[in-house]
Amino acid sequence: MDRLLISGGARLNGHVPISGAKNAALPILASTLLADSPMRVCNVPHLRDVTTTIELLGRMGVEITVDERMQLEVDPRPIREFAASYELVKTMRASILVLGPMLARYGRADVSLPGGCAIGARPVNLHVAGLQAMGADIVIEDGYIKARADRLHGARLVLDTVTVTGTENLLMAAALARGETLIENAAREPEVVDLADCLMSMGAQIEGAGTDTITVQGVETLSGSRYRVLPDRIETGTYLVAGAVTGGKVRATGTRPDNLDAVLAKLEECGAKITTGEDWIELDMEGRRPAAVNLRTAPYPGFPTDMQAQFTALNAIAEGVGTITETVFENRFMHVLEMQRMGADIKLEGNTAISEGVPSLMAAPVMATDLRASASLVLAGLVAEGDTVIERIYHIDRGYEQIEEKLGQLGAGIRRITG
Ligand code: EPZ
Repeated sequence: MDRLLISGGARLNGHVPISGAKNAALPILASTLLADSPMRVCNVPHLRDVTTTIELLGRMGVEITVDERMQLEVDPRPIREFAASYELVKTMRASILVLGPMLARYGRADVSLPGGCAIGARPVNLHVAGLQAMGADIVIEDGYIKARADRLHGARLVLDTVTVTGTENLLMAAALARGETLIENAAREPEVVDLADCLMSMGAQIEGAGTDTITVQGVETLSGSRYRVLPDRIETGTYLVAGAVTGGKVRATGTRPDNLDAVLAKLEECGAKITTGEDWIELDMEGRRPAAVNLRTAPYPGFPTDMQAQFTALNAIAEGVGTITETVFENRFMHVLEMQRMGADIKLEGNTAISEGVPSLMAAPVMATDLRASASLVLAGLVAEGDTVIERIYHIDRGYEQIEEKLGQLGAGIRRITG
C-alpha cells in the first residue's frame, strides 16, 4: 500500500494548477447515459473515482475512450447491462448517480445500495422516494435498488434534507420524464449547476439550478454534446489552506474565484491576504501564523463540509482557540484523533471540535480514513517537525490529482513511498 512521506517546515510559495471538479465530473459522466449519441467531456480530473466511474460505465457496455489529456469520448449506445454491482459501488458511493439517468432513459436499473462509509450512514432514501414520486416501481432486495418505469412522469418533489447527489439524480431523471418536475429544497452547490449546464447543452430544459427550487420540463430525447467540467473548488481551497498553515504565498490558477466565498472569508479572518483575478485566487500569509477561526459547516453557499477537515488542521496550529461544528455528516472528525497523536490540542464535544492552537505539531505515523481527512493530515504534516508518514493514501488518490507533484511544485518536502 502506498504511503506519503512529508518533511515538515517548508513555507509554500508559487502557483498551483487546479484540476476539474471530481464532484461535477462524476454526475456529468453519469448523465451521458441519457444521451442518444456520443458525448465529449473535457477537463476530467485523473482520479481513482473517475477511473471507477469509467469502469462502471464500461461494464454496462458504454464505450469510453480517454486521450492523454483526460478528454473523454463517451458513446452510450452500445449499453447492454442496466446494473451497478456492489463490487464497484462499495468502492465509490457516487455510483448511485447512474440510477436516475439509467431509469429515465432505459426504464430499468439495478443499483447496489451504497451502504455507509467512514463519515456517516449516508442513506439514499431521498433518491429512492423522489424516483417513486415520478412513477418508478422500486423494490429494495438483496442489497440492491431494483427500479422499473415505463416512462417517468414529472412531479413536485420536496426534499426533506438538502442532498447534493439526491438533487443530481432527480434532476437527471426529470430531464427525460414526461411533463414538469419541481425540485424544492434542492442543493445549490456549483457542481449541481455544472451538471444542469451540461444537461442543457444536451437539450434539457431546466430553470433555477443554483437556487433551492429547480424546474425541469421533460423532453423526449437528449443528444450528446461537448462539455468542459468546472474547476475543483475544494482542491482550490485545500491548496490555499496549505499556503495559510505554512505562512506562505500560494496562487491557485485555472480556478473560479466566485464559488468559494465562505472559505475565502474564513481565510481572511485567519489573517491571510486574498486577491483574485478572472481565473485565479492568491493567498499571502506574509510569513505569519494564522489566527484561529470559528465555523459551522452547511450546504452551499454556507461553509462546505468538504473543507472542514482542512480548517481543523489550520486551527490546530493557529493562534488562539477555534471551534468547528460539523452539521452535515455525523462522523466527520476522525482526522482529529490522528492530529491529537501529532500533538494537537483538540477536544471533541458532540459535533464540535474545540482547539487551542499549538505553535507546531510533531511528526508521527498517521492513517488516512476518508478523502478530506487524509488531505488534512497532509496539511498537518506540512507544519509538523520531522517526517510524517501517512498510511492508506488511496483515500487521497480518490480526490486529489497528483497531490505530491502539486505540493512539491510549491516547495513542500513530500514523496510517495510505494509498496
Ligand atoms: C456529496 O455527497 C459529495 N459527493 C460529498 O463529497 C459532500 O461531502 C456532500 O455532497 C455534501 O456536500 C459527491 O458529490 C460525489 P448529501 P452526498 O446527499 O450527495 C443526508 C467528497 O469529499 N441524506 O448532500 O452523498 C446525508 O446523510 C465527498 O468529495 C439523507 O438523509 O451528500 C447527509 O447527512 C464526501 N438521505 C446529508 O443528507 C438521502 O437520500 C447531505 O448528504 C441523501 C442524503
